[in-house]
Amino acid sequence: MTDENPPAIELGVKLGRLRLANPILVASGTFGYAREMERIVDLNRLGGLLPKTITKAPRPGNQPWRTVETTAGLLNSIGLDNDGIDAFIRHHLPYLGSLKTAVIVSVAGRTIEEFVELACRLGDEAGIAAIELNISCPNVTGGVDFGTDPDLCSRLVRDVRSNCDLPIIAKLTPNVTSVAAIATAAAEGGADAVSMINTVLGMAVDWRHQRPMLGNVVGGLSGPAIKPIALRCVHQVATAVDVPIIGIGGIASIDDVMEFLVAGASAVQIGTANYYDPTVSMRMIDALPGELRELGAATVAEVVGTLNTGPQAHRLSSTPAATPT
Ligand SMILES: Cc1cc2nc3c(=O)[nH]c(=O)nc-3n(C[C@H](O)[C@H](O)[C@H](O)COP(=O)(O)O)c2cc1C
Repeated sequence: MTDENPPAIELGVKLGRLRLANPILVASGTFGYAREMERIVDLNRLGGLLPKTITKAPRPGNQPWRTVETTAGLLNSIGLDNDGIDAFIRHHLPYLGSLKTAVIVSVAGRTIEEFVELACRLGDEAGIAAIELNISCPNVTGGVDFGTDPDLCSRLVRDVRSNCDLPIIAKLTPNVTSVAAIATAAAEGGADAVSMINTVLGMAVDWRHQRPMLGNVVGGLSGPAIKPIALRCVHQVATAVDVPIIGIGGIASIDDVMEFLVAGASAVQIGTANYYDPTVSMRMIDALPGELRELGAATVAEVVGTLNTGPQAHRLSSTPAATPT
């Protein structure tokens, strides 16, 4: 075998009943409804894409300002601004359903009944690969309780699952004491996978005017600042719960992708990085086979959760450990 003909790498991944051509997805709320990206990104190459979360009725979202850049991340309080499920099915789904990539529709409800109704409506439509339950948005009142109360979370997932045949992903918040407890509840309810993390609750202050920077006062922090929090959540869930994980949070390079896979994620979603480089996911897909080869793996699954937390765990390769200074 010469370097010109390296062994084939299998990029396909399986998360419960959901199969993806590769593990690189784009996160809800950070890629619009995809059509606006088609001239710069080959959407069919993505492992999956998640349009902005939809709700039963249209929502105007929160008052401005709704985004603020901070030192190492973006703070947003959009508040699930969307035109509602009817408009989504009429205006966006025909285009999304025509793509070859897996379309995972993110939904948010105020009650279990509303989540079930949204899932049932989508279950009747063609072109949808899975549903992501957004039980983790920090910018709306109601809904997030499902992401912080294990009993409610488990009941919600169970009810959606028993009324809808599509694979179900529960999107979790880091704003809890034990993310593993919520992931356990989602798995017990029958979730095919859990995705994590949604944004981290934060705020920014304009001290000169003695005002909060965001109209909603508080918002969700995303981007590089939250990557260590997201990795910690993925690791905690991967070691405690038998459920496939989609890692999200500050992922901006192929090295970030590999960190999440090794920590226990079977796939990843790219969020804030799309704002400063909408093509970043394409380069990650291009680079992934080479990185898997570097670890001697022929499939993505082989590297998932291979984190070695034992003594001398940092000396995994033949590279000598750095001398402490
Ligand atoms: C402007 C903005 C809007 C977002 N809207 C949604 C949304 O509608 N639904 C959702 O589940 N997550 C939403 N998110 C959260 C992202 O999907 C993602 O979970 C989070 O930003 C962490 O990933 P990142 O650091 O790569 O951005 C939004 C994030 C941003 C920055």
